[in-house]
Amino acid sequence: MILKNFIVFEGIDGAGTSTQINMLKKRPDADRFFFTTEPTDSETGKFLRKMLKGDVELDPRTSAFLFAADRNEHLYGKGGSNCGVVAQAESGKIVVSDRYLFSSLTYQSVTCGDELPRRLNESFPLPEILFFFDINPEISLKRVLGRGETEIYEKLDFQKATAGRYRAVISEYEKMNTGMKIIRLDASKPIEEISCIINEELAKRK
Ligand code: TYD
Repeated sequence: MILKNFIVFEGIDGAGTSTQINMLKKRPDADRFFFTTEPTDSETGKFLRKMLKGDVELDPRTSAFLFAADRNEHLYGKGGSNCGVVAQAESGKIVVSDRYLFSSLTYQSVTCGDELPRRLNESFPLPEILFFFDINPEISLKRVLGRGETEIYEKLDFQKATAGRYRAVISEYEKMNTGMKIIRLDASKPIEEISCIINEELAKRK
C-alpha cells in the first residue's frame, strides 16, 4: 500500500540525505511539510541511538526488532515529537522522512540476514516517492569522518557491504509493481544540482 504525501530519502551514511532535508526546510513553503527521521526521537529511537553509538551492545536480531518497533511508532504512535506520520500525511502535510524501512532491509540484512527484516517490515506502507542517494562509500565515508564522532556502522567494509545491498534492494523494488516512484540520484553531484532535481520532482506531484 502507498501512503500518499509520504516521501522518503535513503542512502548510506554520508550520502547527503540530511543536507537535502535541511535545504527543503528553507523553502518559503516549508510549513506545508512535516520533516522527520528514523530512528525517531521516541524512547525506542533514543535507545537505538545508544546502540548506534556503541553504548549498548545488542544481538543484531534485537536491533532489527527495535528498528521495526520504532517505525511502527513513527507511523502510528505518539511516542515522540516526530511520530504520527500517517495522521500527518492524511491531514495533507507532505511528510519527508530521512530513512525508512529500506534502511532496515539494507543495514539489518547485512547484520542478521534478510529474512527477519523482510518479515518485520512487510506490512508497513510504502512512500509515494523514494529518493535513493547513490554514492561510492569511499566518498561518503570521507564526509562522515570529517564530522568527528562516528557510529558503529560507519566503517569502510560495512559501508561497502551496505552500498551493495542498498542497490540490490532498490533494484528489487524497481522491478515490482508497487506504485512507488523511485528516483535514483547521483549523490556525488553538487548539493545545488541534487536539490534542483528534488524540487522538480516535488513540483510534479499532483
Ligand atoms: P543517520 O541517519 O546517519 O543519522 P545521524 O546523521 O544522526 O548519524 O544514522 C542512523 C543510522 O541508523 C545509520 O547508520 C543507519 C542506521 N539504521 C539502521 O541500521 N536501520 C534502520 O532501520 C534505520 C532507520 C537506520
